[in-house]
Amino acid sequence: MSSADLVSIEIEGTSFEVPNDEVLLACIQYIVREDVPVLGRFCWSNECGNCEMSIATAEALLPTRRRGCQTQVAPGMRVSDLTPDLRFYIRDRLTS
Ligand code: FES
Repeated sequence: MSSADLVSIEIEGTSFEVPNDEVLLACIQYIVREDVPVLGRFCWSNECGNCEMSIATAEALLPTRRRGCQTQVAPGMRVSDLTPDLRFYIRDRLTS
């Protein structure tokens, strides 16, 4: 994957380069893929709520609560308040 296919986002204060054509849950799977090939406990179909997160963008004044399996990534997104299930998988990649 070339750098042109990646965008920068921030998760819990840590910067990551992720694929620019994915939903946020897939981006997290991309980040942890070497440690965890498949994320468990996620329906990927907007039913379980295990992928909820707060998302701030340059256009919005306040973060909004959204589901990572349904939200397309965009450059500069700032993601926080992950569910415990989601934070468990990415915890070793976070600097804070
Ligand atoms: S993974 Fe179940 S609602 Fe997103």
